[in-house]
Amino acid sequence: MKVLIVGSGGREHALAWKLLQSARVQEVICVPGNGGTSRLSRCRNLALGVNDFEGIARFALVNNVGIIVVGPEGPLAAGITDYMRQQELTVFGPTLAGAQIEASKSWAKSLMQQAGIPTAKAAAFDEAEAAIAYVVEQGAPIVVKADGLAAGKGVTVAETVEEAKAAIEAAFNGEFGAAGKRVVIEERLVGQEASVLAVTDGLTIRPLIPAQDHKRIGEHDTGANTGGMGAYAPTPVVNDGLMDRIQREVLEPTIAALHQQGIDYRGVLYAGLIITPDGVPKVIEFNCRFGDPETQAILPLLETPLDTVMMACAQQKLSQLPPLVWKSGVATCVVVAAEGYPGKHQKGHPISGIQTAEETGAIVFHAGTKLKHQQLVTDGGRVLGVTAVAETFEEAIARAYAAVDHLQFEGLYVRRDIGHHVLKLSH
Ligand code: AMP
Ligand code: GLY
Repeated sequence: MKVLIVGSGGREHALAWKLLQSARVQEVICVPGNGGTSRLSRCRNLALGVNDFEGIARFALVNNVGIIVVGPEGPLAAGITDYMRQQELTVFGPTLAGAQIEASKSWAKSLMQQAGIPTAKAAAFDEAEAAIAYVVEQGAPIVVKADGLAAGKGVTVAETVEEAKAAIEAAFNGEFGAAGKRVVIEERLVGQEASVLAVTDGLTIRPLIPAQDHKRIGEHDTGANTGGMGAYAPTPVVNDGLMDRIQREVLEPTIAALHQQGIDYRGVLYAGLIITPDGVPKVIEFNCRFGDPETQAILPLLETPLDTVMMACAQQKLSQLPPLVWKSGVATCVVVAAEGYPGKHQKGHPISGIQTAEETGAIVFHAGTKLKHQQLVTDGGRVLGVTAVAETFEEAIARAYAAVDHLQFEGLYVRRDIGHHVLKLSH
């Protein structure tokens, strides 16, 4: 089978890498892919935009692609799945209607409220004045979120009413474009965060091992929010008992509510959770896709061939699939970024040390890289993700950083404390 992956990040490199381990996967085509996917054997990049639905469909039909796997939320929210399904192509990823669970925070919130899914108390506003009045009434701390897709930058956890007001004004003044024309104001939750990614065919839903991301740019969780600076799995924050509860109270009711609305959701449902100090899992957001960098920590531990899981979802046969099998051990992924990320950063700097880093046994996933005249150069804010698998988190973290220390490019930035929560938890 040929698999076409839409996207160009570390997540997509990890998906390609995992799919190529499957005996049935003959070739992977990444649209547009990155420097890492261009070097994998039996994998090639195709220079089309992720929103070029017509070009992607034409290629898939002519080349007999067995399944299209969509990495990022953008094309999903723009209806790539609907388009491909009209051409009778098989897709792993929800339709436009399903992708609203990520693309509109207010839509997701009403779905959660209707289905009784535990989440922060919230209200949505289409005007700054009413939003500000609500913030004044509620008081701080409080969370202000742009309703639409804002690449992880549309959320302000405000410590004061003034800060919340400024965030509301920025949103209505167009800081997030159309995504900020509506804001969701939300109660601030406190607790450990966890990412529970689950695969679903719209009827059955099965969680993957739970992960924890590190959203902030700075050490000890300070500074701006990013797409994610590192992840580890499985996180002990979500033990088996809590996972059962998340399955019953979050995942199953969400799929049932989507189904009830006539939404046939096939792909990943990613629940971003805060586990409150009394142990209640509350949803802070849903994503309609694999997490990045969670995927780079989760997939190296998956034993079941990924193509069978994806096919079972796309063909609505997930209930027939035997339970997912996981390798023993744990994984840690450290993101290597370009100085300045998540703000302005430079591109085009030569990268060295990848082979030596890989010789340590770690896996180097590429994110923002490309080949320029046969030289690998930086091409994005998050440049690489280095994953190490080991029996303990101490070892996995040490091995990931030992590999990271072989990597070089101008302006290289890493957080040195990936996994600090888990080390505290296990002591
Ligand atoms: P989101 O884009 O919704 O995942 O939000 C980005 C980050 O903001 C999350 O990972 C949390 O760290 C934080 N956040 C979002 N909503 C809340 C909330 N209600 N309470 C506390 N922190 C939140
Ligand atoms: N790592 C967070 C996300 O993928 O949204």
